[in-house]
Amino acid sequence: MFYHPAQGHGLRHNPFKAIVAPRPIAWVSTRASAGDNLAPYSFFNAITDAPPQVMFAGGMKDSITNAQESGVFAVNVVEAAMFEVMSATSAPLPRGTDEFTHAGVPKAECHSINCPRVGSAPATLECQVLQIIPLKGGDYMVIGEVTGVHLRDDCVVAGRFDITRFHPMARLGYMDYARIETLITLPRPGE
Ligand SMILES: Cc1cc2nc3c(=O)[nH]c(=O)nc-3n(C[C@H](O)[C@H](O)[C@H](O)COP(=O)(O)O)c2cc1C
Repeated sequence: MFYHPAQGHGLRHNPFKAIVAPRPIAWVSTRASAGDNLAPYSFFNAITDAPPQVMFAGGMKDSITNAQESGVFAVNVVEAAMFEVMSATSAPLPRGTDEFTHAGVPKAECHSINCPRVGSAPATLECQVLQIIPLKGGDYMVIGEVTGVHLRDDCVVAGRFDITRFHPMARLGYMDYARIETLITLPRPGE
């Protein structure tokens, strides 16, 4: 089949997010005058590494409102053990509700920015907002520079950040997720 997105796909559910999959999940923590906030965003990725920069995108909900107000945000990695807790933090709660408290997520302080983080996360990227770009359709993309990195001690094995220690969760389409289980190592040609 072929479809023009502007004309509809004719399927029961939009396949777009199942096509661009798996996507990493940014568990975004923020702090602003309304309080602390935590929510998952899978329109998320690293976009360059010198200096390291990441993006996440969505509507002008609490996370982006707070990132705009404070100029900072943190991206926490979601481990398999926190999968359901992560989902609980996506509930549409009134602005000012602290999802750390709502979902029982351990909170710690960031080091390089004034922002909360998930204390138990395998890794956290502390970020300074560089740009907030309006997207066609009304959503926004936040680009941040990583100014601090936390790695949980048990996840650093033989000098590598070892994802088999915690199994990252990835977002697929629909209501589906993947738990990363298997590593396949393949040197690049010429290396
Ligand atoms: C795994 C997962 C990924 C999500 N990704 C996004 C996303 O990329 N953009 C978005 O706008 N909402 C996304 N959502 C929905 C938000 O998490 C949800 O709207 C949340 O209430 C927003 O919280 P906030 O208002 O505290 O920012 C996602 C939800 C889940 C469970």
